[in-house]
Amino acid sequence: MRSKKMRVGILSAGGDCPGINAAIRGVGKTAIVEYGMDVVGIINGFSGLVEKQTISLSESQLSGILTLGGTILGTSRLKPFKVNEGEDPTVIPSLIKKHYEELNLEALVCIGGNGTQKTADLLAKEGLNIIGVPKTIDNDIWGTDLTFGFDTAVHIATEAIDRLHTTANSHKRVMVIEVMGHHAGWIALYSGIAGGGDVILLPEIPYDMELVAKCLLERSHKKKPYSIVVVGEGIFKEGKKKSAGAYMAKQIKRATGLETRETILGYIQRGGTPTATDRILATRFGTYAAQMVHNREFGKMVALRNGLVTSVPLSEVGGKTRLIEPDHSLIAKGRSMGVCFGDCTKRKI
Ligand code: F6P
Repeated sequence: MRSKKMRVGILSAGGDCPGINAAIRGVGKTAIVEYGMDVVGIINGFSGLVEKQTISLSESQLSGILTLGGTILGTSRLKPFKVNEGEDPTVIPSLIKKHYEELNLEALVCIGGNGTQKTADLLAKEGLNIIGVPKTIDNDIWGTDLTFGFDTAVHIATEAIDRLHTTANSHKRVMVIEVMGHHAGWIALYSGIAGGGDVILLPEIPYDMELVAKCLLERSHKKKPYSIVVVGEGIFKEGKKKSAGAYMAKQIKRATGLETRETILGYIQRGGTPTATDRILATRFGTYAAQMVHNREFGKMVALRNGLVTSVPLSEVGGKTRLIEPDHSLIAKGRSMGVCFGDCTKRKI
């Protein structure tokens, strides 16, 4: 039996998303209540370990945060192992290691997306006791079937699409909406299907502009008064200046002559209160991470597989992205209902 209290650090890194506080609460409360550990919050992601900026988290400080968006610990996009040319790549990791030891941490829970899990793996390889917890609205972390933040983002995007239908109908317009997701189209696919998108363009499926235009013109000839086009931010576009939504709206206008408007949803998708589904997933992930700390199962990331919470080695996760397979069942369902994905697979209007 261990005599002294275990001391566990928690940090959140990368882009924020709804549900991080629910995960912090899940880790912290379980660590304190179930296992009698001390919990330390690291401020602003890995920057907090470089600058040794921490707060001690008591059970009462973890109360009242379940419904809050963002992260009470703050976050940053600092990548400790990424250096500019000529810089010594060992300086920041050594500082992190030194501060981890000075803070008497026995474990560090890293809540974050792809970049964070990669850093977590590299820190584990440096000898730190690391556990990863996956979060991102993009839902693109390899090794887990779902990430928290995604459900809330899909809800927000779907509500936005619902609202576009009325203006699209009143003005007989094509409405293009760009949603986030980085190189993955999960938010576009789910909100596109939930919001009744007529055209859904995903980064994973190369589109043919002629086919997109044909689909929209056929709809207009069939007296369908308007069309909704949902695009993932990572779709192909020429030039870097324009956003995917603005680029696509311009292409549609040029190719069809139809009155077209674009909406870029942006950071709205990452803000505010998490849905119940995200709170539950974040709580399940957080409590499981605390259990892993207790069992000293380090070098792993918490994951959801076939509905069950489990873990995967960080070494298998780092550097990969979970994209949508073109034969995903929701794409097939959309196709069978006439949704155009911009490729040449047969569809009805
Ligand atoms: O990973 C979440 C995400 O919101 C992506 O969908 C988006 O591409 C990116 O972060 C935006 O990053 P930043 O917060 O650095 O602008």
